[in-house]
Amino acid sequence: MQALSENGNTVPQPVPQMLKPTLLIVDDEEGPRQSLRVVFKDDYNLLLANDGPSAIEMARRQPVDVAVLDIRMGGMSGIELLEHLKAADPAIEVVMMTAFETADTIRQALRLQACDYINKPFDISTIRDAVANAVKRRSLASEVKNNAEKLQALQSELQQQRLQEQIARTRGEIYASIIHDINGPLTIISGLIQVINQRIGDETELAGEELEHVKERLKRITRQVTACIEISRRYLGFLRQHHTDNIRVWVNQMLADFRELLWAHPLVKDNQLVIQPLPEDVTVHINGTDLLQILLNLTINALQCSPQAHRVEIVGRVLTQPLDLRMFVDGATDRFVNREGLKNAAPLLALSVQDNGPGISSGVLPRLFEPYFTTRPAASGTGLGLCIVHRLLKEANGALHVHSKPGQGTVFTVYFPARLPSAADATPSFSGGAAI
Ligand SMILES: Nc1ncnc2c1ncn2[C@@H]1O[C@H](COP(=O)(O)OP(=O)(O)OP(=O)(O)O)[C@@H](O)[C@H]1O
Ligand SMILES: [Mg+2]
Repeated sequence: MQALSENGNTVPQPVPQMLKPTLLIVDDEEGPRQSLRVVFKDDYNLLLANDGPSAIEMARRQPVDVAVLDIRMGGMSGIELLEHLKAADPAIEVVMMTAFETADTIRQALRLQACDYINKPFDISTIRDAVANAVKRRSLASEVKNNAEKLQALQSELQQQRLQEQIARTRGEIYASIIHDINGPLTIISGLIQVINQRIGDETELAGEELEHVKERLKRITRQVTACIEISRRYLGFLRQHHTDNIRVWVNQMLADFRELLWAHPLVKDNQLVIQPLPEDVTVHINGTDLLQILLNLTINALQCSPQAHRVEIVGRVLTQPLDLRMFVDGATDRFVNREGLKNAAPLLALSVQDNGPGISSGVLPRLFEPYFTTRPAASGTGLGLCIVHRLLKEANGALHVHSKPGQGTVFTVYFPARLPSAADATPSFSGGAAI
């Protein structure tokens, strides 16, 4: 539906545009303009313009699918108009009409992305086909664009979903880790309470040595409760992406705490646990609870590795040279973890947890650090211990080496960048090598 305006341009009337494509015809001659109108009026939402500027204005007001432009027009040429229309909407398809144009002009039109050109005078079927093809190209292009947009939306939705899943998984792992790690101190608390109960027995009053004994155990229980609180704080910190910087721990002090921690652990009872402090203390850049947690997981594993009485030894060393990483080759008896993340600069602390238990088979060795991997019965192992150790090591720029052979026991050694004490540092003392 069109109405003729005074200047010969037709002004589009409201039409149901979703069905018909919009076709803009621009020719400064009345004759061809009107004949094209007759050809296309039934199938297209038509816009007729007799010069470039009015065509640009029409296209600005309403999106045009296809334009048919006469190349030779007074004022703005068809080529210039083509350039304008394409600049405003690169997806517009344009058919050029030529009369006496040179090959150069035609080439120029094609370079400006005109999709076709027809020679004047033309027969109806030629111009119909040219416009129909242009419409097809336009709808194909918009379909491709729509699909690309849909694909992108789908991709970002998928990514968002993956992110949510990842967050949920991480949270799940963190909650599981809290429960796993708190289990250690809880076992110790329970052991200490049993000792107190046995000691108190049927007594109604406590005095002297008995009272001192109970008080001492209560102090140990309080320390374990504090450890539980620290563990849950640490993991809640993870959830809030909070990291503690500039924290250092004295290794021998930590080993003394560790000895204390295991004192009432039921697993130690029939086994021999030896803890060798460093001849000269150093500090490492890690939260004290994290280092205890690493050592606790490795030691509990070593104590659990056999039901027979066996020996577990914890030995610390300070290395004055960086590790020669070429010496650590993953294979049937060895695994090196967090190679890339290790800050391999001397001095390094090497802490080994060594047992003379059954050792680890070459089939199990590569799977040790997988979350939830365990060879222990469902009720007794969650398979999270070494996975937690791995995470804590990464956080501390440390590394771990495990060497094990079936029948010959296992050695887990953790490495951390360390610092030798300076004159200003006061070293807390712990001497030992004592067996618990
Ligand atoms: N010192 C060791 N000797 C023999 N096998 C070991 C030793 N340390 C670890 N493993 C093996 O590695 C597996 C995984 O250990 P991890 O600490 O991750 O889980 P878990 O001890 O089975 O369960 P959780 O620590 O969650 O209670 C163990 O099930 C065991 O097979
Ligand atoms: Mg374990």
